[in-house]
Amino acid sequence: MATIKSRRKAVSALRVKSAPRNYDVADLSLADQGRRRILWADQQMPVLRVIREQFARDKPLRGLRLGACLHITCETANLLRALKAGGAQVFACASNPLSTQDDVAAALVKHEGISCFAIHGEDRDTYYKHLRTVLDSHPSITMDDGADLVSLLHTEYTAQASEVIASMEETTTGVIRLRAMENDGALKIPVVAVNDAETKHLFDNRYGTGQSTMEAIMRATGILLGGSVVVVAGYGWCGRGVASRAHGMGANVIVTEVDPIRALQAAMEGYQVMPMKQAAKLGDVFITVTGDKQVINGDHFDLMKDGAILSNSGHFDVEIDLAALRKLTRRIEREVVPNVDAYHLRSGKKLYLLGQGRLVNLTCAEGHPAQVMDMSFATQALCARWAAGSRTHQVKVHNVPREIEEEVATLKLSSMAIKIDSLSAEQKHYLTSWQTGT
Ligand code: ADE
Repeated sequence: MATIKSRRKAVSALRVKSAPRNYDVADLSLADQGRRRILWADQQMPVLRVIREQFARDKPLRGLRLGACLHITCETANLLRALKAGGAQVFACASNPLSTQDDVAAALVKHEGISCFAIHGEDRDTYYKHLRTVLDSHPSITMDDGADLVSLLHTEYTAQASEVIASMEETTTGVIRLRAMENDGALKIPVVAVNDAETKHLFDNRYGTGQSTMEAIMRATGILLGGSVVVVAGYGWCGRGVASRAHGMGANVIVTEVDPIRALQAAMEGYQVMPMKQAAKLGDVFITVTGDKQVINGDHFDLMKDGAILSNSGHFDVEIDLAALRKLTRRIEREVVPNVDAYHLRSGKKLYLLGQGRLVNLTCAEGHPAQVMDMSFATQALCARWAAGSRTHQVKVHNVPREIEEEVATLKLSSMAIKIDSLSAEQKHYLTSWQTGT
């Protein structure tokens, strides 16, 4: 493990090293459209806007190189603009081959002077080539959505790990990977679990995933949710959001779980709870949001109704066992309508897979609304400022400092013109004393 002294030396050397400055996007002529959409999202991201203005004044990231592996969307573009306003030289790549909005990638390059390496539909080799290009720029701060960049840093780019002041992680799956690295003693850099901040997962995971997942399914298929049976696999924050929004649209919601406490919560919320084998026979639409693999697998496909719709809103395309599905399949009919593949099973049934089993809200729609990404990305930006404030953060998974969460929540309330009460001195005293009882 690098000592604090050697990390400090490596990190300060960064300020003088020169970096490649180029891009790889689908079509620069889309840049003006991308810029219009970025500015539209910006109007709905007031907290991030305030932070961008502060950053432009104070330059907390001056001279630093920042490598971001995130979904390349309008909302992310506004985060990257804030980081650049703070003085960072920004290199961005996609955290998923299908979530890139090509017009946004073009606008980042042409209008924002940000080096962006992301093409919608890129193959696996190109995806990793883009991640490598970002690491070749020798970032001193990194940001990830799913921990692919940090993972590459710890495998192919280990010599560079001591240059990284800290990395921020956006999503549940990424935090799980990072904690596994920490437990294995493999972690070489300080990381911040942005996902675990209340200002992130209580809002983005719940309301963001809830709304954008249902929007994506409706956009791709046009189905009526009222009266349909929607099976939600996983009752974490994302699953809660999806179940609540599906219920709100009139669906009969079934939840599947492996955690007894979460299963009880789902039952007491009024959902049916049962094993997937039972739910498989009943569902019209399946949505996986567990973060684990093979949640819908070879035991389930043949039990499903003819015409059932399969979708995943978890980070990786592993939740629906596609290899097992292919084994049972006689013929795949690609894009019967955009983003919907029909799997004709040997049994004679047809199953419809959305967005190739990749996270449906970003493949079949444009991800979470800007208002909610405002909080997640404000938290990210302030964590970058926190990271840049010291060269000696401990190598471990850090929680987001409480002050940052309070700053984001206070700014968000103020942008919504919501005022709240505050404690009197007497109330504060009561909450910190133990003598008063019955
Ligand atoms: N993750 C979920 N929705 C997103 C969005 N709109 N932009 C970036 N990352 C996201």
